[in-house]
Amino acid sequence: MPDLNDATRGRILYGGDYNPEQWPEETWQEDVRLMRQAGVTSVTVGVFSWARLEPAPGAYDFGWLDRLLDLLHAHGIGVVLATPTASPPPWLGHRHPETLPQAENGTTVWYGSRNQFCASSPTYRRHAAAITEQLAARYGAHPALTMWHVNNEYGTHCWCDATAAHFRRWLQDRHGTLEELNSAWGTAFWSQHYAEWDEILPPRQAQYIRNPAQLLDFARFTSDALLECYTAEHAIVARHSPAVPVTTNHMPFWRGQDGWAWAKEQDVVALDIYPDPDAALGAQHGALVQDLARSMAGGPWMLMEQATGAVNWRPVNRPKPAGLNRLWSLQAVARGADAICFFQWRQSRQGAEKFHSAMLPHSGTGNRTFREVTTLGADLDRLGPHVSGTPVTAGTALLHDWDAWWASEQPGRPSELLDYQENVTAWHRALWEANHTTDLAHPAADLTRYRLVVIPSLYLLTDAALDNLAAYVRTGGTLVTGYFTGVADHQDRIRPGGVDARLREVLGLAAVHQWWPLNEGETLRCTGTEDFRGTLWAEELETAGAEVVARYADGELAGHPAVTRHTHGEGTAWYLSTRPEPDALRALLTRAAREAGLRPAAEHLPAGVEAVRRGELLFLLNHGPQQASCELPGHWEDLLTGKPATGSLTLERHGAAVLRPAAP
Ligand code: GAL
Repeated sequence: MPDLNDATRGRILYGGDYNPEQWPEETWQEDVRLMRQAGVTSVTVGVFSWARLEPAPGAYDFGWLDRLLDLLHAHGIGVVLATPTASPPPWLGHRHPETLPQAENGTTVWYGSRNQFCASSPTYRRHAAAITEQLAARYGAHPALTMWHVNNEYGTHCWCDATAAHFRRWLQDRHGTLEELNSAWGTAFWSQHYAEWDEILPPRQAQYIRNPAQLLDFARFTSDALLECYTAEHAIVARHSPAVPVTTNHMPFWRGQDGWAWAKEQDVVALDIYPDPDAALGAQHGALVQDLARSMAGGPWMLMEQATGAVNWRPVNRPKPAGLNRLWSLQAVARGADAICFFQWRQSRQGAEKFHSAMLPHSGTGNRTFREVTTLGADLDRLGPHVSGTPVTAGTALLHDWDAWWASEQPGRPSELLDYQENVTAWHRALWEANHTTDLAHPAADLTRYRLVVIPSLYLLTDAALDNLAAYVRTGGTLVTGYFTGVADHQDRIRPGGVDARLREVLGLAAVHQWWPLNEGETLRCTGTEDFRGTLWAEELETAGAEVVARYADGELAGHPAVTRHTHGEGTAWYLSTRPEPDALRALLTRAAREAGLRPAAEHLPAGVEAVRRGELLFLLNHGPQQASCELPGHWEDLLTGKPATGSLTLERHGAAVLRPAAP
């Protein structure tokens, strides 16, 4: 199977989405000239071009794309060619309203924006396959083609009748019989028993809380239905160009697609990232989603989209301050990206995104944005041969599973303040601040290469995952588990005893008797060998062999264990029944990492300096508000400047160094 290396060929791809159909052809000449000037090596073309390519059903217009690809090729710019199926033309919705998605309450989602397709609609699929076939046949052997990009940010949901029929087929595959389905969904509750398949619907708008197992299966189904659309187009383009890698771009930490399942079907994992430049922890959000992309890819990945400056979809859209675009791009390289691209090359004059930043802004080339884009192009050109294809090695894995996410965020639960993604972010932050490079992993994945495995909270764990975790600890691993974990099975049935018995044995706990969610802003003092304040959640635990690291000192649970630690087989298992405040969580995870024999990527760095190792290189990234002075052990060369770096290294605000070991 082709992979990202087939497109990068030892470089870091640099460029962005290019939408030349928004411009007269004279502009294209200027575009390619400025792309060369900026060091652009790759553009993504055609993402939203369906109406231009097929202005009427079956009537194709490829002349402009022929000229464009030839022009790009003549200037040495590679093309990531998109299938345009994310934005069907108005004629499709007009002639075939059944291709338009329906919301939970039955209202139609119309054309006039983008993404208005129902993944289960046979008509949509037929038309999407037809335009894909045309493109693939025409351009599959074009010398400019380096990669296929299928659709764009698959994320639609639909509750229409075609979806209902498709959902039933999916349920038949999963559950076999109606009896099994009734059992899996617990339909004895509230008189929900299904006597015929045709009675089953996607979970449409209802009077009160809907069946959680039905909601869970629908989330799984929707991810699978979209994935079928992806794999159908992937198969078409791969048939015409078997040596060209195929990808689609994921939204960062996106709830709607099971990323583990999707990554298996993609030759290249591609990610779009838009951290808020104004957010204190924007850099950490970037690190988290980059770690996820690398983990999904199992190696180098592609940063498909980011913004050079402001986006246009936050309530207030602020530009990136000087240097931040370069810093966050280098962060992605540090964390495994072999392609750094933007949305988009030339800023649009019209349409919904005319205020979104681009590589080439409305004001042209005489501005900081374009100068920074050009500098970054040169940086990446220099770094390419040293990093492209090299791995990032992490000693820690943070376990993440979309099934658990979906199951844990349904209505009718103990606390609506539990936010899956926010909790993952908090735990990742603790490791990130301590410069422990962290992969994300599925709970049933092979964990043997990690010294430390952490679970922020996985409400749902399958039998396979539980056996995996038990074996991991028994054979010497260190596991740190957060609250509300191992509670439900694969169908969202509560495990006997409330928390799975295998997990309790590993943790040295007899029982979790009660969950005590905390109110907004409420904290509980915890004391012991670690003193801290717990937030969000607490539990009434009964230990069975575990050492108590900290007890609740306040409130109804005063005197009860809050944090425990247990030796199981050759390993150690911690349990955190509350979420310590950020500094304390970092202290706890740092202690567990140290006890597990892990060292951070670099030590004694000023706060705000991120350190990541990629291959033999050490990336230092200054996210702090001012200059930072770093003491370096040994001798290095900074690949960005070509200068030796020994002893003390000063990083400007938003400054970065990419250090290679050097002879003294
Ligand atoms: C992405 C999308 C792009 C563009 C961008 C703006 O979600 O793929 O087409 O809309 O957002 O930030």
